[in-house]
Amino acid sequence: MIERTLAIIKPDATGRHQSGAILQRYEQAGLVPVAMKLVRLTKAQAEGFYYIHKQRPFFDSLCSFMSSGPIVVIALEGEQAIKRHRDLMGATDPAKAAEGSLRKAFGTHIEHNAVHGSDSSETAQFELAYFFNALELPQP
Ligand code: CMP
Repeated sequence: MIERTLAIIKPDATGRHQSGAILQRYEQAGLVPVAMKLVRLTKAQAEGFYYIHKQRPFFDSLCSFMSSGPIVVIALEGEQAIKRHRDLMGATDPAKAAEGSLRKAFGTHIEHNAVHGSDSSETAQFELAYFFNALELPQP
């Protein structure tokens, strides 16, 4: 099944000029960017995006970090894109991420973990609509 998922290259990775290297990994994996932009979130916009984590102890720090610099948001399309992107990213904590995964290669800390990816089709729908309107990301 062809799916779409939202990928974010986080401020730690954009700050280290690793966006190109990460995009190359998506393309090599057959996860095709169908919409993409570089944005800088306000803290309130980061809080809206991560509302599901509102009760977590790391919520404030996560939202401060995600609004600390530019991010690249990408709609990726491909066969089983949601799961394949999560496999490519690796575990949330870079220290536990598999060899060859994006978070192992580019992340440095559980919060500064280089990339984000939608974790289900419902989440992907919300997250894609958070960043892209119908002109930028037409229905497939
Ligand atoms: P992400 O995939 O963007 O989804 C939520 C983020 O919260 C996650 O990546 C991590 O960056 C962060 N996160 C998850 N668990 C923790 C934790 N225990 N401590 C700090 N940050 C966390």
